[in-house]
Amino acid sequence: MTDAQLLLGQTLAFEGDPFAQGPQAARHVRRGAVLVQGGVIRAMGGAEDLRAAHPAAGITDYGDDLILAGFVDAHAHYPQTAIIASWGKRLIDWLNSYTFPEEMRFADAGYAAEIAGRYLDLVVSNGTTSVCSYCTIHPASVDAFFAAAQARGMRVLAGKTCMDRNAPDGLRDSAQSGYDDSKALLGRWHGVDRLSYVVTPRFSPTSTPDQLAAMGALWAEHPDCLMQTHLSEQLDEIAWVKSLFPDARDYLDTYERFGLLGPGALFGHAIHLEPREKARLREVDASLIHCPTSNTFIGSGLFDMGGLMADGHRIGLATDTGGGSSFSMLRTMAAAYEVAQLRGRALHPAELIWLATQGAARALRLDHRIGNLAVGMEADLVVLNLAATPAIAQRAERAEDIWQALFPTIMMGDDRAVRAVWIGGRALDVQQPELPSTKTQ
Ligand code: GUN
Ligand code: ZN
Repeated sequence: MTDAQLLLGQTLAFEGDPFAQGPQAARHVRRGAVLVQGGVIRAMGGAEDLRAAHPAAGITDYGDDLILAGFVDAHAHYPQTAIIASWGKRLIDWLNSYTFPEEMRFADAGYAAEIAGRYLDLVVSNGTTSVCSYCTIHPASVDAFFAAAQARGMRVLAGKTCMDRNAPDGLRDSAQSGYDDSKALLGRWHGVDRLSYVVTPRFSPTSTPDQLAAMGALWAEHPDCLMQTHLSEQLDEIAWVKSLFPDARDYLDTYERFGLLGPGALFGHAIHLEPREKARLREVDASLIHCPTSNTFIGSGLFDMGGLMADGHRIGLATDTGGGSSFSMLRTMAAAYEVAQLRGRALHPAELIWLATQGAARALRLDHRIGNLAVGMEADLVVLNLAATPAIAQRAERAEDIWQALFPTIMMGDDRAVRAVWIGGRALDVQQPELPSTKTQ
């Protein structure tokens, strides 16, 4: 075992789903070890046992730090990196004022490459090892994103965002060109290294029925791909969808009638759902992607985590950068906790960590590869310092178990808590990306 690496520290893995089985679905080892070789996890166990069994392995001892699966962000818009935290709008105004002008800049392939690299460096420095991102309508924005992820050895998913109406000049394709460009990108990137193409109509207000049908046809030709879009994020948006599709039974039906509902469908937000929509989503086992920092930041509403989980929905967690106000899945877990509290459900730290790792991977149909520490899984790991700031350290000092030790980092932690990140079995530098050149205001 020449390239074998033994990582020592506290370890946290899941042997089941804490929403179904409670916190005992997690397995915490106080002095544990993970053996990594050839990009995958080869063994898990106690530190001394694995040291004795693998004497030739290189050793990295993380002491009291916690080794867990790298975070998985199931819904993001990497092109919105530079406009994250833009003040004071709700969804449609926010798209028109900030998002669309910024996305226009991705006509420049050089700019797309710069932001793709900046975005991935930011997420990795926050402990995120996989993301599922929207790109822009420009094929070069997809090439830039996949090339940047490929250079970092990351497992990512992404697609060209298709829009053929209700978007400015320069940011619209057509039903035909959206189909053709998506198909060419899919052929170029899907299944290459750790990259997956995702069929990506932005949402039904910005696609004509013809384009939605073309996206449905493309997905039917490539059923091994996922399909991502937005659903029922804000009440104004839902009213707009009703006026654009007067014959549709509800918002979900604007996708369903064009072949855009199935087990591999990812619906971002899914806050204001009708009973029929919930029943259909559950029946086909589509994924709902909860984006809590976005939902509070843009004022969208309170996702019903407790109710939807109890009904057996497949749910992942995501930042929704840059409608979401953070690149950090720690911050995102904290927001999920707060949103659920406002709906009367206190999510356990085991549930929060599961949502940001296994749950998100499961929503992306990748839980057999990423999102957990287990033999045979790809070696994407994050190592967290559970005492990264004085405020967190003084609270964690009182902890009586792993959950009390971890919860302050979930609620108050950020990139300072990320001690190390391993991607595909390699330790990646978690230095902060360089600051863009500053201008005086
Ligand atoms: N709905 C359609 N596009 C977007 C987007 O870029 N961000 C969010 N939050 N919602 C959307
Ligand atoms: Zn989104």
